Amino acid sequence: MISKRAQSVSPSETLAISAKAKELKRQGKSVISLSAGEPDFKTPKHICENAIKAINNGFHGYTMNTGTPELRENISNKLQRDNNLDYDPSQIVCTNGAKQALGFSMLAMIDEGDEVIIPAPYWVSYPQMVNVAGGTPVTVRSSFENNYRMTPKQLEDAITENTKAVMLCSPSNPTGTRYTADELRALADVLNDHPEVNIISDEIYEYIIFEDEHVSILNVAPELKERTVLINGFSKGFAMTGWRLGYLAAPQEFADAVAKIQSQETSAPSCISQKAGEAAYAGSLDAVHKMREAFKKRRDFIINELSNIEGVKCFKPSGAFYVFPDVSHYLGKSTDNGRTIENSTELCMYLIEEHGLAAVPGDAFGEPNGLRLSYAASMEELDKAMERLKAGLTALS
Ligand SMILES: Cc1ncc(COP(=O)(O)O)c(C=O)c1O
Repeated sequence: MISKRAQSVSPSETLAISAKAKELKRQGKSVISLSAGEPDFKTPKHICENAIKAINNGFHGYTMNTGTPELRENISNKLQRDNNLDYDPSQIVCTNGAKQALGFSMLAMIDEGDEVIIPAPYWVSYPQMVNVAGGTPVTVRSSFENNYRMTPKQLEDAITENTKAVMLCSPSNPTGTRYTADELRALADVLNDHPEVNIISDEIYEYIIFEDEHVSILNVAPELKERTVLINGFSKGFAMTGWRLGYLAAPQEFADAVAKIQSQETSAPSCISQKAGEAAYAGSLDAVHKMREAFKKRRDFIINELSNIEGVKCFKPSGAFYVFPDVSHYLGKSTDNGRTIENSTELCMYLIEEHGLAAVPGDAFGEPNGLRLSYAASMEELDKAMERLKAGLTALS
């Protein structure tokens, strides 16, 4: 009964950890979870109020397939205001989260046998989405020394005659790293030699950047606009994960192709979420900046704590709400009951089972030496989590 397409998809590698966390909690054990990919804040009030108003006003029907004209207008204005990018509302497709914008983009772009270059560590869904679309994910392993950023040479070496696209994610999930303007320009120089390669630029963490301003590849290489799909959404910056609202901005022809797929598969996202999204971009960003400041304090705390654990290497990430320490020093070591920890998956299983700390293994993101800790958690929880991490790692010998 199951198609080859469905068989090509791997289940989420984070599921084993969250299932274990649930099981341990059910048994009454204390588990601190730094495995979630969502802000621990509430959606700002003015956004919720616009959604409530929409419900009370009877705004309950289907909207236009690509999103309400007002929302797309606000997104278009936002892209101009925040990113200095010019997109007509007709070039914007609103989706059920950025995830759907990515998935439908892959379906609209990829043919059987096409390759998509994905720098690792990568967000878990990218390779799976390429598989679903019938393409071949080609991962490029970036190095800790280069703060997990793909170099222009790595990009050049990975391009073949079958390359259809390259995925960029800056700031990154899972590492929090981001590309500088110069680095993006250098990648763009490579892409200029390969006019057949498209770019999918996932900028969903754009509002969670601590030291600098967000830079899109299109800011430094506007010549790539005709083959770039910009992905963004409301989940991370506005703490709106459950509202399921994202979008893409793309060349007209591509936006139309995605819209066609969306019209047959899902139609527009929820009308109420769209009203919330309208308020998010029309209103003040004060709440977004407050959340960013809180994330920054937590990042500084967690980085400081990690620097006190022997053998753990971690650079200070400049965005998102994750740290991705290199824990290779502890791989191959044994627990006090003689169990050898062969890889990051086993390390995370050990940490949760014996020390009550849930983290996501680097294996899930294509980087065996790391693990991802999300600091979308209270300072109190982070404090305890760091104690547990230190106790767990240093107990290995
Ligand atoms: C890099 C990245 N892109 C896209 C998404 C999807 O976000 P959403 O579908 O909630 O908008 C996520 C969520 O974890 C993410 O981390």
